[in-house]
Amino acid sequence: MNEMSSENLQSPDSLKPVNHDIGAGRGVFISTYGCQMNVNDSERMYSILEMSNFMPVESAEEASLIIINSCSVREKPVHKVYSEVGTYRELKKKNPDLLIGVGGCVGQQEKEKLIKTQPLIDFVFGTDAIDELPQTLQTLLGRQSKKEKVVNAQFHHREPYHVDTLVRNPGVSTFVNITKGCDNFCTFCVVPFTRGREKSRPFQHIMTDIHSLVKRGVKEVTLVGQNVNSYKSDCGIDFPDLLKKVALETGLERLRFTTSHPKDYNQKLMDVLALCQHKLCDYVHLPFQSGNTRILERMNRGYTREEYLEKIRQIKATIPNVVLSTDIIVGFPGETEEEFLDTVSMVKEVGFETIFAFKYSPRPFTKAARFEDQIDEVTKSRRLNHLFDVHNKLSFEWVKKYEGQTLQILVDKAEGENKLSGRSTQNKVTYFEGPESLVGQTVPVKIHKALPNVLRGVIEQ
Ligand code: 5AD
Ligand code: SF4
Repeated sequence: MNEMSSENLQSPDSLKPVNHDIGAGRGVFISTYGCQMNVNDSERMYSILEMSNFMPVESAEEASLIIINSCSVREKPVHKVYSEVGTYRELKKKNPDLLIGVGGCVGQQEKEKLIKTQPLIDFVFGTDAIDELPQTLQTLLGRQSKKEKVVNAQFHHREPYHVDTLVRNPGVSTFVNITKGCDNFCTFCVVPFTRGREKSRPFQHIMTDIHSLVKRGVKEVTLVGQNVNSYKSDCGIDFPDLLKKVALETGLERLRFTTSHPKDYNQKLMDVLALCQHKLCDYVHLPFQSGNTRILERMNRGYTREEYLEKIRQIKATIPNVVLSTDIIVGFPGETEEEFLDTVSMVKEVGFETIFAFKYSPRPFTKAARFEDQIDEVTKSRRLNHLFDVHNKLSFEWVKKYEGQTLQILVDKAEGENKLSGRSTQNKVTYFEGPESLVGQTVPVKIHKALPNVLRGVIEQ
């Protein structure tokens, strides 16, 4: 199950019982970058390590264990990892017992290569090895020489997907994993290679987690996975069934989900969205990536521009006042100027209030990285800037509609003396004045200023 690819590489012996005091009060610091899945994985790492008596600390300086949990979806993160590890050189000199590990997509992708090129790293673990961190650390703490390293980056091909730990400090609003990995193989995307085949968590585990989160004061849950709407549980429950059960059978106030794939947005899902509107928020994130059908085909997205637009029409008809957001890639190999302009027109036509747009970046193992008609960086940057300019102007106009409206805001944070922030059902961050005691409650706020990313208002008495 584990890798032993060089003489110095140890295998964490997961058959050995774990000593639950291996942490012995040592400080652990996790440096995280990347998507929400990664942030969530770091929270899980903290909770599983806390169970083995490691103590979360606020900075690398206070830690005896440093983990870099990094993402490789869009950037060249390996360099980032090396430069971050380099900054810990002095700490390691001062404390030779300091353990440094690299996890997440970069660990999965690079495996022992990381250790070969950066001797400061003691261990590497993949996206399926989080729950085995205590075993990995037990192996390291018992090693004879500091030259012995551990690499645990094999995928488990077993179904279902198990998440044995809950988020640490769930707060008012939190994330619950429902799937891991992806089988879609969009030609630009590294996820199928870094997170493996798609696996779903057992339905009962998800329900138990959510019931317990509700007891801990959570009001809003976002169900997360690379591709949530292809969820399929052990007992035949699909995503619309799951959504309906979570919406109707738990005490949550609000329910969200991300990310969905347009090709799996079917009628059954639309029907549940209509049925559970009081819980499901009027905000949908649906990546379209490109507004041009030829590029969509080269991306292996499985839908045309028209089919995407048809889904949007159905969503708008099902959820009144729905707010839409999306992911976009510009400068995909072979994209002509006209094809890029189809993407710009899609943004205008649908009226996405929020866009997450990126320059195409070739990722290892992916098909598109081998396409010969790559677009130069200058063109990619120009297209991205143009898209943002167009969107910016429009979104300032679009959000003006909120001024004068009263929105229901779930208060998630106190931001200082009598200052609060929260989010509307449409996922708009909203600032207003009020006492800290309102955190966790939903309050009506009359909006007086609306900018594309924030709203400001006053509590309506
Ligand atoms: N280049 C640029 N953007 C990418 N994304 C995924 N892979 C790449 C890549 N190779 C973007 C997509 C996806 C989001 C999470 O990241 O838009 O939806
Ligand atoms: Fe990547 Fe496509 Fe899967 Fe999303 S659906 S994770 S873009 S392969």
